[in-house]
Amino acid sequence: MTGDFRELYGPVALVTGASSGIGQAFAEALAAKGFNLVVVARRVDRLEALAARLAQAHKVNVNAVQIDLAAPDAARRMLEACAGLDVGLVVSNAGFGLKGAFADSDAGAMADMLMVNCNVPIQLAHGFIPRLQARGRGGIIFTSSIEGLMGMPYSAAYAASKALVNALGEALWAELRGDGIDVLTLCPGATQSEAAGLQGIDISTLQHVMPAAEVVAATLDNIQNGPLFFSSEYYRASLEKLTSLPRRDALMMIMQSMKR
Ligand SMILES: NC(=O)c1ccc[n+]([C@@H]2O[C@H](COP(=O)([O-])OP(=O)(O)OC[C@H]3O[C@@H](n4cnc5c(N)ncnc54)[C@H](OP(=O)(O)O)[C@@H]3O)[C@@H](O)[C@H]2O)c1
Repeated sequence: MTGDFRELYGPVALVTGASSGIGQAFAEALAAKGFNLVVVARRVDRLEALAARLAQAHKVNVNAVQIDLAAPDAARRMLEACAGLDVGLVVSNAGFGLKGAFADSDAGAMADMLMVNCNVPIQLAHGFIPRLQARGRGGIIFTSSIEGLMGMPYSAAYAASKALVNALGEALWAELRGDGIDVLTLCPGATQSEAAGLQGIDISTLQHVMPAAEVVAATLDNIQNGPLFFSSEYYRASLEKLTSLPRRDALMMIMQSMKR
């Protein structure tokens, strides 16, 4: 990338979903680059432990903020938590998935998922873009998924939610190019985190699982290479192959594999 990372995107970053997995790895990597942080999730005990650890290791300020991102006022509360801070990088990472037959999915859980995966990134971007435009530099990273690239049987609502994130991130990449704001939409493949377990998936059954720290390091290195970034070459190539097939064939192949 061109330029010093902290100069371009610092001094403060907001990271959502920092209590585990990819979000925690973002917080760790950014603190190591000297960023002060605002970290958000529900499990505030974890955020506070992370804040203490990063403050000691890297001499940075880390503000742990407990917010349920399924709540309608979540984005407003994050903007309030960042008032008066010179936020140059917004990492909209928090999210979760639901696997299984769509008809059997819990309607309330799906509604929460749309709030966390879709409403929060839209509202966060809308709230922070004027601030980033005013400073004339900065970045936004959306954590999406390769599942957002096409319909995914047995992951229908999650894949649809990530399709929205991909479309949002791509459009904003183009809109903000003249403003000195880099927008990158991360599409991870299988990554070590708590997500698989929460969806009832044994992570040892997944192929090519990447460590979260590796995904994050590659993402930060590629912040200027938007609009989309695929952290896993294996999953990027698999999806490219599927999307090149007739849609019906691709969907039936995915359905068989998801059933397994
Ligand atoms: N791991 C993968 O294989 C993979 C692949 C593709 C995309 N992704 C995406 O990567 C992102 C990070 O997930 P992960 O894999 O790191 O999973 P994870 O370990 O389960 O982390 C999810 C994070 O999101 C937060 N979160 C979830 N619901 C929330 C809510 N209602 N309010 C506030 N925070 C909430 C969790 O915090 P609390 O529970 O403490 O609130 C946690 O910090 C997600 O957007 C996910 O869709 C992951």
